[in-house]
Amino acid sequence: MTAAKAPGAARYLPAEHGLDALRAAAQCCRGCPLFADATQTVFGRGHPGASIMLVGEQPGDQEDRVGEPFVGPAGRLLARALEDAGVDRASTYETNAVKHFKFTRKSGKRRIHQKPGRTEVVACRPWLIAEIEAVRPQVIVCLGATAAQSLLGAAFRVSAERGRRVLLPASLVDLEPEPVVVATVHPSAVLRDRSERHDESYRLFVDDLRSARSGVVATR
Ligand code: URA
Ligand code: SF4
Repeated sequence: MTAAKAPGAARYLPAEHGLDALRAAAQCCRGCPLFADATQTVFGRGHPGASIMLVGEQPGDQEDRVGEPFVGPAGRLLARALEDAGVDRASTYETNAVKHFKFTRKSGKRRIHQKPGRTEVVACRPWLIAEIEAVRPQVIVCLGATAAQSLLGAAFRVSAERGRRVLLPASLVDLEPEPVVVATVHPSAVLRDRSERHDESYRLFVDDLRSARSGVVATR
């Protein structure tokens, strides 16, 4: 089944594709089962004409409650890394491949993050594509495999390709000039890496963000 024919978010997209209209319509999305248990749709946030778009996996516990992406611990690490890479966070747009929090409950209370499956990623992709077409970023940074595989295909391997500039598959988005994509690890992976490698993982993450920044040409 092609992405276009798959059941998913496409039928919930509004006729008008401005960010505000998209954000409002996404609140009512029922394109996959994840809407049922989450608190709300967590749509992207940031500069509407951002030259850099950052794409995470899905909202976490705190993002689900607040309704905004990257407000929890991963977001704090990301903010620090962006600063260290010389990227002004206020000039970016941040979003996720999947817009609802997927979790299981542990002992009735704590909500434990679950990785979204391929079907959910594909179901949710129309929102991400619409955001890319509305924001028209020059560079898209995929934070982790879920974001990278949403845009670059299920065979894409972050470990092999991280930090390199690649192009989106033809016809995925309708943009001229086409944005370039840089994939890197997810900030949660850097956060979780408490071994003696932590400093090195953080440094490599910042290097990838710097490489993304250098893909922005100063025309706007
Ligand atoms: N992790 C993500 O991928 N996205 C968020 O918004 C928060 C944590
Ligand atoms: Fe819609 Fe995406 Fe939420 Fe699924 S995860 S209901 S496709 S917004």
